[in-house]
Amino acid sequence: MRRKLAAGNWKMNGLSAALDELAAMGPAADGKAEVLICPPATLVAPAAALGLPLAIGGQDCHAKDAGAHTGDISAAMLKDAGATYVILGHSERRADHDEHDEHVREKCRAAWDAGLAAVVCVGETLSEREAQNTLDIIAGQLAGSLPDGATGHNLVVAYEPVWAIGTGKVPDVDQIGEVHDFIRARLEKRFGEGVGRSVRLLYGGSVKPGNAAEIFAVSNVDGALVGGASLRADDFLPIIEALN
Ligand code: G3P
Repeated sequence: MRRKLAAGNWKMNGLSAALDELAAMGPAADGKAEVLICPPATLVAPAAALGLPLAIGGQDCHAKDAGAHTGDISAAMLKDAGATYVILGHSERRADHDEHDEHVREKCRAAWDAGLAAVVCVGETLSEREAQNTLDIIAGQLAGSLPDGATGHNLVVAYEPVWAIGTGKVPDVDQIGEVHDFIRARLEKRFGEGVGRSVRLLYGGSVKPGNAAEIFAVSNVDGALVGGASLRADDFLPIIEALN
């Protein structure tokens, strides 16, 4: 039985006052679904120090443990600051920082070595969908971005169609179901049925209180990776509630 997961990706949003929003999400995080918030790196330690019944994650990590990499942060540092998860391969990292599947794979290994669970993101662009290449793109990203050694504990896969992120456009439930079923089948083939069935699959891209329940009813959707609507407790609480 996979535990549902409501994950929030705050991206480059959040000064210390945002910890009040996090604190307001705390009580709702004690339900059936697991709740994860990935604040900017500056807030990982203070967020974890609040001691709320929710998990804290980073939004990226370097593939190396330490060294001369100005501005970067290692998986061990995130772990040390109280994180238990890290998002990897988000399309904004892939686009803004020229990250490719092999980088994501190395980062994923580093995250696992440090004892973090990885939320690995995959998703097609609009032109790839229009060219009917969605499943090929997803297959390539999964094959390239995931190292050997996945388990239901160390890996979560997030399907985030690039064209749905921050746009208010959401694929229809059949499109979401098709991709999630496909990802599940790929994971079972690569890692074996037991592991493949235990990895949680999140949908991400314009999830809001108003569409969450419909999305969560789709087969193989185990929760969501939410951007904008995870910043405020008023928006995120009903999304968590829709999973409980
Ligand atoms: O990682 C979450 C994300 O990319 C979706 O963002 O703002 O469309 O919910 P948003």
